[in-house]
Amino acid sequence: MTYVEPKPIQTGIPSLKDEVPFTMGSAFTRPETLGVHGELLAKHFNGVTPGNELKWDATEPREGEFTFTDGDHLVNFATEHGMTVRGHTLAWHSQTPDWVFENATKEVLLQRLERHVRTLVTRYKGRIAAWDVVNEVVDENQPDGLRRSKWYEIAGLDFIRTAFRVAREADPDAKLFINDYNTEFPRKREALYKLVERLKAEGVPIDGVGHQLHLNIEQPPASAVEATIERFAALGLDQQVTELDVSIYTDFVSSYDTIPPELLVQQGHRYKELFDVFRRQAGSLSSVTVWGESDDVSWLRSWPIPRLNAPLLFDDDLQAKPAYWGVVDPSRLEPFVRELEAPAAAVKVDGRRDLEWDLLPDAPLARVGDVSAGFQARSSAAGLYVLAEVTDPAVSAGDRVTFTVDGRTRALGRNSPACAAPPPATGSRPCSAAARTSRSRCTTAARAPPGRARSPPSPPSSAPPPRAARPPSWTAPWTGCGRAFPSCAPAPGSRASRAPPPRSAPSGRARPCTSWPRSPTPR
Ligand code: G3I
Repeated sequence: MTYVEPKPIQTGIPSLKDEVPFTMGSAFTRPETLGVHGELLAKHFNGVTPGNELKWDATEPREGEFTFTDGDHLVNFATEHGMTVRGHTLAWHSQTPDWVFENATKEVLLQRLERHVRTLVTRYKGRIAAWDVVNEVVDENQPDGLRRSKWYEIAGLDFIRTAFRVAREADPDAKLFINDYNTEFPRKREALYKLVERLKAEGVPIDGVGHQLHLNIEQPPASAVEATIERFAALGLDQQVTELDVSIYTDFVSSYDTIPPELLVQQGHRYKELFDVFRRQAGSLSSVTVWGESDDVSWLRSWPIPRLNAPLLFDDDLQAKPAYWGVVDPSRLEPFVRELEAPAAAVKVDGRRDLEWDLLPDAPLARVGDVSAGFQARSSAAGLYVLAEVTDPAVSAGDRVTFTVDGRTRALGRNSPACAAPPPATGSRPCSAAARTSRSRCTTAARAPPGRARSPPSPPSSAPPPRAARPPSWTAPWTGCGRAFPSCAPAPGSRASRAPPPRSAPSGRARPCTSWPRSPTPR
């Protein structure tokens, strides 16, 4: 066994907490208060959530026997470093000892719950700013939208009512949250919404909704997260992102031996998109918490299987990843390159979408607000054909799709001379344009379906940008296209791939080309 000196944390990079307009939190456990992990927490985060130490199995393992050694240590660490604490969690179906439900009538169960909640919330009165009072109580597949936990089976909704009532009594100043995962999916979102609406109408003291946001590198789109925040804003409650991470896998079985660097770049762009949403919605969000400060301590290293995963902002050596730069300064991110099949085909370049393009799905590009885009390619002896389809409800005269092929850039606007159907002011008809380069031929189709003009893409910024701050521009997302094709251009009909495949390749995702030269470096 050899001792490896840990790398020092980077002190010359911006602190996350100074770059966002809400509390920037991290989950932590006792070991992370020590050494470089403790230093990283102190530099970047002004909020913390004990990952396990305040759960029922940790605090009341046997009836009436409370243990707070680890909980106190973590809360004291937070207090010493001026961090706010989220208490996680008072009532949950998991990590709750069996004795809690043994021989429990409804009355007995609610008495046990009341003592537990009162003891914890009173102990940390004034030091824990927000509690996840109940965790994961929604099941959208039940007719009433409620999880069939032992809590629910024995006490019905009264366990939720009791937990909130007692928590409020014990510390009237603590903010009380209902916390859940998958709230960005419409059915779960609506089930939670209905529950919160109902409990609020009854007078249950719910102050806020916590969205866990355990996401993956592809799904769900940031726009779904935004739709959720906007939906709950209507209830006039506070909202917090409570457990954010972005798995590099889209399934439960794949496993990389070495994570391809371009996947981390893609993750950086994903974090950028998410933080664009959080900044835009900062008026509704009081904090964003990542579920672990660095990849080495992530729960996703052991769930759903033991595998190399890297879902957070700092790597195993606690160094800033592209994900960190996606949050702090996206201009430092390498362009996101998608790799895709370019099957041999003859395509007519006439401004219409040939049936040929419907044979494969469009490869999606980063979605910004309501604006999304996808593209495909076909190859022939005559050159490379590219179809770019953009959905942008806000029509602007400055809208562009920019291609760079072999160093030559072509920008195609809605009013390009090659446009088959000039776009009306409302953007209700499709617009297509064709471009030709010395070696390749590109086709773009910019489509603007009918719809309410809403927020355009926002510029990367550390402050929440005002709505409609800048007209949409496709220049940035699309410049990656041209750089991809010269270096990764396949022979007609072949697949361009130099990325080492995972042992079991994640499905449904175009893997990016590996030709990007370097990772972002700290300022
Ligand atoms: O403490 C025991 C230790 O004694 C034993 O030797 C070891 C053997 O595996 O297990 C230890 O317990 C582990 C515990 O974390 C503490 O480290 C459990 O196996 C492990 O399952 C448990 O995982 C936690 C998980 O919740 C349990 O559901 C994760 O650390 C924790 O990050 C995770 O957090 C949850 C949130 O509370 C709710 N939302 C989902 C999120 C991720 O699952």
